[in-house]
Amino acid sequence: MAGNVNSAPGQAHWSSRAAFVLAAVGSAVGLGNLWRFPSEAGANGGGAFVLIYVLCVALIGAPLLLAETLIGRHGQRSTIGSAAILAKQSGASSGWAALAVIGLIANFLILTFYSVVAGWVLYYVATSLGDVAGAVASGQPFAGAYAGLTTEQVRAQMPDLFADPGKMLIFHAVFAIITTFIVARGVKSGIEVAAVWLMPAFFLLLIGITAYSAVVGDLAAAAAFLFQPDFQRAIQPQVLNSALGQAFFSLSLGGGAMVAYGAYASRETNLSSSAGTIAFADTAVAIVAGLAIFPIVFSVGLSPDAGPTLMFQTLPAAFHSMPGGALVALAFFVLAFFAAVTSSVSLLEIGVGWVMERFKLGRVLTSSLLGLGFFLIGLVSLFSFNIWADQRPLPFLPGFENATWFDAIDGVTGKLLLPLSGLITAIFIGWVADKKLVDPETGLRPGRFLPLWRALIAWVCPLAVALILLFGLFPQLIS
Ligand code: PHE
Repeated sequence: MAGNVNSAPGQAHWSSRAAFVLAAVGSAVGLGNLWRFPSEAGANGGGAFVLIYVLCVALIGAPLLLAETLIGRHGQRSTIGSAAILAKQSGASSGWAALAVIGLIANFLILTFYSVVAGWVLYYVATSLGDVAGAVASGQPFAGAYAGLTTEQVRAQMPDLFADPGKMLIFHAVFAIITTFIVARGVKSGIEVAAVWLMPAFFLLLIGITAYSAVVGDLAAAAAFLFQPDFQRAIQPQVLNSALGQAFFSLSLGGGAMVAYGAYASRETNLSSSAGTIAFADTAVAIVAGLAIFPIVFSVGLSPDAGPTLMFQTLPAAFHSMPGGALVALAFFVLAFFAAVTSSVSLLEIGVGWVMERFKLGRVLTSSLLGLGFFLIGLVSLFSFNIWADQRPLPFLPGFENATWFDAIDGVTGKLLLPLSGLITAIFIGWVADKKLVDPETGLRPGRFLPLWRALIAWVCPLAVALILLFGLFPQLIS
């Protein structure tokens, strides 16, 4: 079906509701769940963070997820095109659609560093393949302390990789090519096929690793860490801001990914139940990932607050001292790669859909151009670990004075631009867009959940996001 392969928003559709939900779960479940969630939870006091995070997902994330998918499904265009249609039909200013540009830019920037991190994942897939091969060749496939390395040498793998821009560049390029290839194949033959194959494999691997971890690791310590909130910490502005930012990032919200995917959903799809499923699945994966990672980390006496290095340094070191660790490490990084690629395609699709629509270009050309673009801009993040390690691009922004390029792009997009863009979406849907157009799209029954959703989207989302943004940026206001 050549029409599908080269289809712009407005022509392409998922083959079923299940395909839509799977693709959207694929977008949501990603490095955000495996790499960002555990590291944020670890750095922000465990249970306190998890509690606030779950509240953010239920009260802000899920209602916004419904809002985004309905903007897309109503408009059946790119993110900006769909916002423009709803604004026009509601008699509102076209400026509302222009605001969607914030999300478009944020997501493109996220893609630039996402691909760098996913490149590390690919590098670890390659090294763990080598370790497994070595362990098998030595006749002891299930031994710990494999590949003749000491734990210190395993820990050194990450700084060694970071110090080597050439190596990082190769894996960033490979990941960028895979992402671009899938998006170039189209919505049905590319994005949907990837989700339908990779997501079930992801779930199987996750269940397997969690079971392994529960058996060989310290499950009790991990559960205490994740589920015992310290209420003192839970009300600290940084914890609130981090949890909100994480909810946006993990649910693919704010930047329009869910608008883009909603645009390919059919008229029959019930958007509210789909949004509920997506939010639930994403949160469940984050928590289960925590239950897969922390028992191993605790059982070898390592610290949970290693931050972003948790997945790439602490965890490999922990695997290394576990029975069968080489195989489990391989399974874990393959799983992370599957999760990453079904997310990166959604990040790219937002821009591709808009450029195809706006400039009437073909899908393959558009994907290739934007693919090259995010690869090149990604080099800024990549070099921030080595060549540009001492550059601090945002000395004037509170909280970002010491951020490297990588931290700056991650922090500004996740903690600032996505919530800001989500705030605008909530105001647009809660107050500006015509209720007669919006409400039937939700699939919610008027007497029951519709008023609840309306209250959340019109009041809770804008107020909570605005307050958290304000205090997150200016903690001195309340201290
Ligand atoms: N949700 C993805 C993850 O958790 C990342 C993402 C953010 C994807 C924004 C699309 C849009 O990894």
